Amino acid sequence: MAEIARGRSERGELVLRRREDDGALELRVNGVFVMDDVETSSEELLASAALSSIRRPDRVLVGGLGLGYTVRALLADPRLGEVVVAEIEPDVVAWMRAGLVPSVLDDPRVSVVVGDVRTVVTASPDASLDAILLDVDNGPDFLVYNENSPVYASPFVTTCRSKLRTGGVLTVWSSSASSDLEAIVTSVFGACVIKPVSVNLQGRAETYYVYQGSS
Ligand SMILES: C[S@@+](CC[C@H](N)C(=O)[O-])C[C@H]1O[C@@H](n2cnc3c(N)ncnc32)[C@H](O)[C@@H]1O
Repeated sequence: MAEIARGRSERGELVLRRREDDGALELRVNGVFVMDDVETSSEELLASAALSSIRRPDRVLVGGLGLGYTVRALLADPRLGEVVVAEIEPDVVAWMRAGLVPSVLDDPRVSVVVGDVRTVVTASPDASLDAILLDVDNGPDFLVYNENSPVYASPFVTTCRSKLRTGGVLTVWSSSASSDLEAIVTSVFGACVIKPVSVNLQGRAETYYVYQGSS
């Protein structure tokens, strides 16, 4: 592994590195694999699931910049008005701004807030967003930070709903099937659409999921 950058925050240590076997760019937090730039179809599905379900993506909020694949997929839609990205790790944003990761931040439709997505969503005016896309962990059952567990709980999902315009959607990425998340999205939105996506993770066949509620 060739280390490209290392950062530290109160939540722990972040490493951006290039794998020697396949040349992939990989992000790790506290030693835990978060994502790479080889298998990005599920990050892109998070965007396309939202885009295909709403009438007009005037204003979209994304939780978790990561390597930028979800944001890039949003930007590919010419209807997109603006996307606000909440990213808790300043280094993730700084590495992209420095060009260590291909940037999505130069597009004038993108603004970044360095902070917790829960704070950023809660501070948004009610009925101001067409979509909220959450990809801040490896899913509700495989947290990168334990402090993120309220992201998948009823009070925050209810807050998300209040920030959506009529017809808006909440979409949540997960690396595993989560009956708890399905139940919470169903109880808050009245229904939950689950979109599985088959991925090849370094030679291993896996299924990832997107959970969606529509307001
Ligand atoms: C799996 S990556 C996101 C991947 C992204 N969808 C992409 O396409 O590259 C998760 C990101 O969420 C960030 N994150 C974790 N907890 C967060 C939180 N509570 N609020 C905002 N960002 C958070 C991490 O620092 C990391 O950059």
